[in-house]
Amino acid sequence: MIPKIPSSEITPKQVYLSRRDFIKAAGVLAGSAVLAACAPDLGENAPSAPGDPAISAKTDELGDPVNSYQDITNYNNYYEFTTDKEGVARLAKDFQTSPWDVEVYGLVKNPRKFAVEDLIKSFPPEERIYRLRCVEAWSMVIPWMGFPLSKVLDLVEPTSDAKYVRFETVFKPDEMPGLKQPWYPWPYQEGLRLDEAMHDLTLLATGLYGGELPPQSGGGIRLVVPWKYGFKSIKAVVKIELTAEQPRTLWSDTAPNEYGFYANVNPQVDHPRWSQATERRIGEFQRRDTLMFNGYEEQVAGLYAGMDLRKNY
Ligand code: MTE
Repeated sequence: MIPKIPSSEITPKQVYLSRRDFIKAAGVLAGSAVLAACAPDLGENAPSAPGDPAISAKTDELGDPVNSYQDITNYNNYYEFTTDKEGVARLAKDFQTSPWDVEVYGLVKNPRKFAVEDLIKSFPPEERIYRLRCVEAWSMVIPWMGFPLSKVLDLVEPTSDAKYVRFETVFKPDEMPGLKQPWYPWPYQEGLRLDEAMHDLTLLATGLYGGELPPQSGGGIRLVVPWKYGFKSIKAVVKIELTAEQPRTLWSDTAPNEYGFYANVNPQVDHPRWSQATERRIGEFQRRDTLMFNGYEEQVAGLYAGMDLRKNY
């Protein structure tokens, strides 16, 4: 994501993961007393990860295995803490995710502030197993708990002038050391068109693997938009504003030629500095083809009928 880094940052991790996957593929890890001491370093992937909390299914609807809890919660993008994906969990460990309030306002009939615990009571979280495809070309399969964003938007009743939804992450410099990086236009913000926000796949996630949403994964509450690059899935949301104009977003402000507003996963439109045709699924040895709309084409292509997806990237 950062304007200069990717190849140097990604390569060592790739080598590391490949080695790890090779060991796993060779069956050395399973049941090996000698290597058991290394297990936390090596990680373990679903469906065979023994300590993972219970989930209803071990694959997504395409049959792809769900990633392990270990991988999902120890390889994160969360620049408010650090740009080091493997350092987020440690730095975010004590971040307070409860109680958590989210304010929904702007072009709505009933502006309201909701406590996440009340939302959970009103809309009992359901499990949604989604692929997450980062713009940096790595991906995971994640079993979220949550409810459609549309349920909250229905409560506040957007007015007929509302065309977009803007989301904002909490800004707590004392607890989030990454906010000291002055070159990002904090707070992190993102946006969706109202019809994208109302789509049933668009989730407000409040949990993971049947349990709570840990801080590094975006607790108190985060957005998950599975057909878009991961940066649209904004974490630790405290403000949701209905607007008439297309909202600014942190990434399109930072590098407008690289990150567009729509950011739909599209293997045919390369990032200016790398191909988006394939991806590295965390826990797998070989790269796999990236799917149009991250595999959700049937459900969402209609939202973009008639639009030039090269121009509206
Ligand atoms: N939200 C905030 N507030 N800050 C971030 O840095 N990173 C984004 C997105 N949401 C980010 C964020 C990016 S680039 C990705 S790929 C996903 O979170 C990663 O989510 P994960 O760490 O839960 O896998």
